[in-house]
Amino acid sequence: MRILNFGSLNVDHVYRVERFVQPGETAAARSLRLFAGGKGLNQSVALAAAGAQAFHAGAVGADGEFLVELLRDRGADVSLIRRLDVPTGHAIIQVEDSGQNCILLYGGANRQIPPEQMEDALSRFGKGDLLLLQNEINGNRFLMERAFDLGMEIALNPSPMDGAVRELPLEKVSWFLLNQGEGQALTGEQAPDRILEAMARRWPDSRTLLTLGRQGSVLWDGDRIWRQGIYDTPVADTTGAGDTFTGYFLSGVASGEPMDRCLELASKASALAVSVPGAAGSIPTRDQVLRADLRPLK
Ligand code: RIB
Repeated sequence: MRILNFGSLNVDHVYRVERFVQPGETAAARSLRLFAGGKGLNQSVALAAAGAQAFHAGAVGADGEFLVELLRDRGADVSLIRRLDVPTGHAIIQVEDSGQNCILLYGGANRQIPPEQMEDALSRFGKGDLLLLQNEINGNRFLMERAFDLGMEIALNPSPMDGAVRELPLEKVSWFLLNQGEGQALTGEQAPDRILEAMARRWPDSRTLLTLGRQGSVLWDGDRIWRQGIYDTPVADTTGAGDTFTGYFLSGVASGEPMDRCLELASKASALAVSVPGAAGSIPTRDQVLRADLRPLK
């Protein structure tokens, strides 16, 4: 199964801070570093690192060429990325000593993708392929409708969650990849099992993978539940950990691996990703994941 990931490419400006700046406050950052990021780009890096046949479609400005090069170097097909005459998307990310982050996004080229580019990219895919989407580009409704008509499966990671997600044709989604907040926003439920039940009631043809931070993750395919814990690694920066999980998991799905194996590798890969600063650059290769000696977190 080929995976077309139509998603964002961002330049991440990462500021290390003692604690997040508060409303009305001015605070000094300890350091600033620039990294490749964007939920789309991170997930394509993870897909390719895990061994999937990953095609990334999206848009950058002239200042985003290094993002395309990084994606190419990490093994994704970049022929469907367009250069637009606008700035590349970027993110302002504060990272606290605990490794937690908060992110401010500027869409830039990610929000100006022309419909004709979407049409062109999708025309190269069809039944047996999977379209992966996040919520950082324009045109998700169009992409979902067209991909569904083409017989593609659709995986949706609705991050960052906003009201627009509820307006999408969610009945066309085969795989939801959610964190607890997103699950709550979609169903109104708070407890993980209740979120999964509500998702299955509302979208019976889809499967939901819910990530729960230190509580691991739960997958429900309408029939069966799988639970996966997390692994113990020192936390340097959690940015991109969810993207690593998504990419590794879907790569396993695309190659027909058993669900418990897909979850185990995704969990190990994201544990390794949090132990390294940055987003895309922290995503481990499959070899690193397989060789890592990781202990489950009790
Ligand atoms: O999920 C992490 C990503 O969110 C960052 O790389 C940032 O660019 C934002 O898109």
